[in-house]
Amino acid sequence: MSQNEIRQSGPLTGKNLATRSLVAKPLVSKPLVAKPLVSKERFGKVAVLMGGDSEERDISLKSGQAALEALQRKDVDAFGLDLRFKHTDQAGSICQQINAEKFDTAFIALHGRGGEDGVIQGVLEAQGIPYSGCGVASSAIAMDKLRTKLLWSGSGLPTPPYELVKATDVLAEKALLEKIEQITQTLGFPVMVKPAHEGSSIGMNKADTTDELQQALVTAVRYDNEILVEKWIVGEEYTGAVLDDQAMSLIRLETSRDFYDYQAKYLSDDTIYHCPCGLDKDLERQYQSLVLEAFRRVGAKGWGRVDFMCDEQGNPWLIEINTVPGLTDHSLVPMAAKNDGIEFDELIYRILQTAIT
Ligand SMILES: Nc1ncnc2c1ncn2[C@@H]1O[C@H](COP(=O)(O)OP(=O)(O)O)[C@@H](O)[C@H]1O
Ligand SMILES: [Mg+2]
Repeated sequence: MSQNEIRQSGPLTGKNLATRSLVAKPLVSKPLVAKPLVSKERFGKVAVLMGGDSEERDISLKSGQAALEALQRKDVDAFGLDLRFKHTDQAGSICQQINAEKFDTAFIALHGRGGEDGVIQGVLEAQGIPYSGCGVASSAIAMDKLRTKLLWSGSGLPTPPYELVKATDVLAEKALLEKIEQITQTLGFPVMVKPAHEGSSIGMNKADTTDELQQALVTAVRYDNEILVEKWIVGEEYTGAVLDDQAMSLIRLETSRDFYDYQAKYLSDDTIYHCPCGLDKDLERQYQSLVLEAFRRVGAKGWGRVDFMCDEQGNPWLIEINTVPGLTDHSLVPMAAKNDGIEFDELIYRILQTAIT
């Protein structure tokens, strides 16, 4: 089957997933086989980088603290380092903050801009310090939902149809009305409106009408110059964690809210996480295979998480990649790892290990 045929023939479904030539090899993901653990001496002194000044600073401080405590329980010589990307006289530049401390390996627990988008990865590369997780280019791509979608759709992987709206369109009334008219024609309603570079559902809204779309665009533009308006997928939501180029158990997310928003992610008690996810084992393996392929297509490595949804016909649609997902003991990657027999402290140790193996 040619790439062209694949692109034209619609989304990968549970039924036809295994027959597509572009799907990950192996076509059906294998059960997780843990890599051997390296000795803690190989890490030397470890800095757990956390905080930052993105919208996700508070979550990052929690992830970083949880990771730090886990590493210390494993007797790794680790300390926490709260970084500030915005240069101030007090904090100094990001390079000055890194150089003020002496360490051999970095554990990146920074979420969002600065920490998850290739910036800190580039700084560490330049200093010759090994770091956990993805490299510069894949971090930058994964942080950018638009470029991630372009890569996926360009290689035949399914991601919801969308329109790009630029800040300049939103700020000029005539251009905005034209854009809304165009979206109404191409995507219809409902749609999901999201800033292209944000995380934690920040600045995102569902729109059911042209008025709501206009309002959602005005909100999103406060966070980004590029806004994605995506076709709304009705169906189940899953997330697939990846560690060492292997897919972990899938998690199905159930929320009573319209979607998995900030409230559902961090504040509400009534979000339900199903792990095991309840899918038939073969189908779960096929979706895991898609998760791995989506991860590899952006050049990601080490560890991370791929969010996807399945529509009412069972077609999977890739939503986004997180290259530094949450790491508190309530977070999703630790939940999947636990289901695969990897306890939190060991998971954190394995993530650190991705810096040097
Ligand atoms: N196209 C879509 N259709 C329906 N729901 C969506 C769609 N895109 C995102 N969502 C919902 O919004 C949530 C957050 O979207 P996502 O793109 O993963 O951004 P974030 O980086 O903030 O997690 C998802 O977990 C899902 O619940
Ligand atoms: Mg997400």
